[in-house]
Amino acid sequence: MTTHAMTVADAIRTRRTVRHYLPDPIPETTLTSLLDLAIEAPTSWNLQDRSIVVVTGDEGREGLTWATGGQPQPQEAPVVLVFVAELRSWQDDHSDVYEQARGNGAWSDDFIAMFSAASKAFQEGLDERGLLREYAVKDAVIAASFLMLAATEMGLATSPMNGWDEEKVKKVIGIDGRDDLAIALLVSVGYAAEVRPHPGRRAPERNIVRERYGDPGNTARQE
Ligand SMILES: Cc1cc2nc3c(=O)[nH]c(=O)nc-3n(C[C@H](O)[C@H](O)[C@H](O)COP(=O)(O)O)c2cc1C
Repeated sequence: MTTHAMTVADAIRTRRTVRHYLPDPIPETTLTSLLDLAIEAPTSWNLQDRSIVVVTGDEGREGLTWATGGQPQPQEAPVVLVFVAELRSWQDDHSDVYEQARGNGAWSDDFIAMFSAASKAFQEGLDERGLLREYAVKDAVIAASFLMLAATEMGLATSPMNGWDEEKVKKVIGIDGRDDLAIALLVSVGYAAEVRPHPGRRAPERNIVRERYGDPGNTARQE
C-alpha cells in the first residue's frame, strides 16, 4: 500500500489554530524532529538569533497560563514553545557557523570575511536605529511558521499566541530582566481535542497587488 505524505500546500491549507487539546503527550522522537525542522528556517545573515524554549512541565505550563491571562492552550497542550529573539547575539562569536558553512562547501574563506564584516555593519546600523528587536523577532517568527507547518504534516495541532505579558513570560522561562532577549511568539503543540473550521480569508484581490501598494484595480490576478 502506498502512503502519500502531506504536501506543503496541504499543510498550509489544513493548518488551523487549535485552542483545545487532548492530554496525550507528544513522543520525544516526534518532538525532536519537529524542533529540528523549525531551526531549518532561514535567518537574516544566517545569524540563527532565536531560541526555542520547550515547556512541558506542569509548573512551566501553569506559569504560561498565568502569563497569557488564562488562555486554555498552555493549560491543555502537552507542549508550549516560547520563541525567544536574541537581539544581541550577532555580537557573539560566530566561528562555528562559518566553520560549518566552509565545511559544507557553501561559503569560501573570502565570502566568510566579506559576510562577517557586512553583517556586523548591518547589525550596527540596526542598533543605531533601534531596530534590533524588530529584526530578531522576524527570524524567530519565521521559525515558528516553519514549525506550525511541520507540525501539521506530523498530525499535530498548534496555536500561535500573541496574548501574553512579556515580563511574565520571561519570568516563567528564567530570563526576567534580560533586555537583550525578547519574546517573539508562543506556540502550543499537541493533539487536537476540537475540529476548527477554516474562518476563511479575504479574496486575493484584497491583499495581493502588482507593482505598487494600493493601486485600485491593479490586482495580481490577470483577467
Ligand atoms: C501572531 C499571531 C498571534 C495570535 N495570537 C493568538 C492568541 O494569543 N490566542 C489565540 O487564541 N489565537 C491567537 N492567534 C490565532 C488567530 O486568531 C488565528 O490564526 C486566526 O483567527 C486565523 O485562524 P486560523 O489560524 O485557524 O487560520 C494568533 C495568530 C497569530 C498569527
